[in-house]
Amino acid sequence: MMKISGILLVGLCAGLASAGAAKAAGSVSAGQSVYANQCAMCHSNQPGGQGIGPSLAGVYGKPAASQAGYDFSPALKAAHLTWDSATLDKFLAAPQATVPGTKMPFAGLTNAEQRADVIAYLASIAGP
Ligand code: HEC
Repeated sequence: MMKISGILLVGLCAGLASAGAAKAAGSVSAGQSVYANQCAMCHSNQPGGQGIGPSLAGVYGKPAASQAGYDFSPALKAAHLTWDSATLDKFLAAPQATVPGTKMPFAGLTNAEQRADVIAYLASIAGP
């Protein structure tokens, strides 16, 4: 009897997990691992932490190339973008095509779900 209810419980959890994955908005936790694997080597998630790329803490909702203390490319400064979800989605899919001349040496995230997830993560570290 104990064994059977254990199996039922596992089945129920698997069902809940797949229902969660089907939602349209990105997942912060999945986005955190996309960030760790694809962005963190160049981008700090701590305010003011500059690496090869600028810190991305607080970038969500801000004008592009507006962070003090980082030497942005002339191309990104001239692009006059604001980093909302739609702009980030476009830029992260194809950085060089979206901002020709950007110095972000990243080919792009072709997977739309990974983009939605990493954008949800960026929004989560943007502060109040
Ligand atoms: C190999 C290094 C590298 C990787 C990997 C990389 N970036 Fe970048 N990123 C940069 C550089 C360099 C810039 C500055 C671009 C410029 O000035 O044109 C930048 C700029 C940005 C900006 C604009 C910041 C601002 O303040 O305007 C965003 C947003 C961004 N990156 C997000 C990401 C995300 C999300 C990922 C992972 C999916 C990622 N980047 C992966 C190097 C990288």
